[in-house]
Amino acid sequence: MKPEKLIEKTRLYVQKELAGESSGHDWWHIFRVWSLAKNIAQTENANLTIVELSALLHDIADWKFTGGDELEGPAKAEIWLRKNTADQKLIDRVCEIIATISYKGAGVPTPMRTIEGKVVQDADRLDAIGAVGIARTFAYGGNKNRLIYHPDEPPVMHQSFEEYKKNRGHTINHFYEKLLLLKDLMNTKSAKKLAEKRHLFMEKYLDRFYKEWNGDV
Ligand code: NI
Repeated sequence: MKPEKLIEKTRLYVQKELAGESSGHDWWHIFRVWSLAKNIAQTENANLTIVELSALLHDIADWKFTGGDELEGPAKAEIWLRKNTADQKLIDRVCEIIATISYKGAGVPTPMRTIEGKVVQDADRLDAIGAVGIARTFAYGGNKNRLIYHPDEPPVMHQSFEEYKKNRGHTINHFYEKLLLLKDLMNTKSAKKLAEKRHLFMEKYLDRFYKEWNGDV
């Protein structure tokens, strides 16, 4: 199957699979990551077919919704790509990205081996910060029955993926445990630049949040 046709078929498949998802990992998250990844890929000279398929399939079965099983995502992507007679080399490249893309805690490195992986990880992380990132974070917190904030519970810098997975803390902590760290974890120059505005907006948002929380308005 021609790459353009496979990408289009995959888009329709993912759109259908994730349409009604309510935790911030819905089709529109995928659409934004896909668009951002295409943009960054052009500046970084990455292979577009690998980037687009990985971006489209990266949350097809995220560990956050499979009871912590991080192997389900790449496995489901592989079944889909194989069904559509994708080349085995292409399948391997895409599935490697899906298997390694996730954030795993403040103290856990998540390096990407290929430029395509770096691009898609950056795009996914850009959609986790800024105004959209804030909206997604609270949607996720609600979906997981988390408190918005608790002033007596400080953030935790998780040192292992297992610890990070078990975390049930309030949503404001998630800013310190992940979102505010992402700016410095961007792989590519283009994403670093794009992250700046989004980062500043989150800082402003938090400042305002505490002011209102403390009745200082
Ligand atoms: Ni994602």
